[in-house]
Amino acid sequence: MDAIEVIRAKRDGGALSSAQIDWVIGAYTAGGVADEQMSALAMAILLNGMDRREIADWTQAMIRSGERMDWSMLDRPTADKHSTGGVGDKITLPLAPLVAACGAYVPQLSGRGLGHTGGTLDKLESIHGWRASLSNDEMLDVIRDAGAVVCAAGSGLAPADKKLYALRDVTGTVESIPLIASSIMSKKIAEGTGSLVLDVKVGSGAFMKTVEDAHELATTMVELGTDAGVNTVALLTAMDRPLGRAVGNALEVAESVEVLAGGGPADVVELTVRLAREMLAAAGVSGKDPEDALKDGSAMDAWRRMISAQGGDPDAVLPRAAETVQITAPSSGVLRRLDAYGVGLAAWRLGAGRARKEDPVSFGAGVTLHAQVGDIVREGQPLLTLHADETARFDRALEALEGAYEVGLSADSDSLPLVIKRI
Ligand code: URA
Repeated sequence: MDAIEVIRAKRDGGALSSAQIDWVIGAYTAGGVADEQMSALAMAILLNGMDRREIADWTQAMIRSGERMDWSMLDRPTADKHSTGGVGDKITLPLAPLVAACGAYVPQLSGRGLGHTGGTLDKLESIHGWRASLSNDEMLDVIRDAGAVVCAAGSGLAPADKKLYALRDVTGTVESIPLIASSIMSKKIAEGTGSLVLDVKVGSGAFMKTVEDAHELATTMVELGTDAGVNTVALLTAMDRPLGRAVGNALEVAESVEVLAGGGPADVVELTVRLAREMLAAAGVSGKDPEDALKDGSAMDAWRRMISAQGGDPDAVLPRAAETVQITAPSSGVLRRLDAYGVGLAAWRLGAGRARKEDPVSFGAGVTLHAQVGDIVREGQPLLTLHADETARFDRALEALEGAYEVGLSADSDSLPLVIKRI
């Protein structure tokens, strides 16, 4: 078999055989297929798609490229959540300890932010001393101690995806439903969780801009998980506006701690509780209700144990950016629109995100929202505070926010419901 034959087959609109997929993923991981050949194949897949059998074969081949983790030694079921990424999406932070406090184990491998969407590991690294890289034995110790662990995937997990994702990122081939579904699910299946809840975001701040595309991605991923023996469900949730009132690493940690203390913005609390209930149901655990675990302090206890077990100080003062700029409401009325992409881009330009994988992030940078979509505002009241380490960053962040918010006489009826549907 050779790479050109496989590329031609997909370029000409054919379906790849199981043997072709197995060969090309194995050879690419081992260095026998060049990056430029894999780029051509990824582009052919983006343009011509893959059928369900091809996507399943592609996913399984990526899983086989590395190790598969196993949690069968644990005495409780495991449950995990994956979000396709959004602006202000800090839900993993309160969710993992919350689900642990309610009786399931949460072994979560998370990622870093790239572009306008934030990454869970970057957020947690704003806590002094917290370590993202753990060995498998350390992961097990943290799970046994705290009930939940959130850390980086080791290099042995789906290495084919690691290589391919980096290539797609620089060749304009990220936005392919077959490639996104197989990339996410290969990692989640290899991670060894018994059940999985997918939070598939929809709107300007998400990969999927329409409910139809999000539905297709969610259905594909649910089928891949179910076929692999992982009890998988998906929620389609709104990302036309930011989630919560904080966007940026340390700002989102602070908001997550508010939720764990029984407060926090209503949308963050609602989504956290809903996803926790879905995870517990998928894992077959019927213990404490998540709302009770937020009220009685048990979720906060699990958070403190989880952070400490990974070297972090849960009482450490979080980093703050040196400079701030405020944006005020241009008129009185209802905040009709606050575009997720515009706010995400502004936070990124303020330093909360990175342009290249190897760039550092600013922990204190980001955007604080003083009003959320649907809130009544008065002319001149603070709408947004921008946080950055250097004043030079404000101009381009302000540019990103031009046209991103609108105050009007009534709420926008096109605004998506927080939870759009369940699959
Ligand atoms: N997240 C992933 O892990 N892979 C993709 O392809 C897109 C988002």
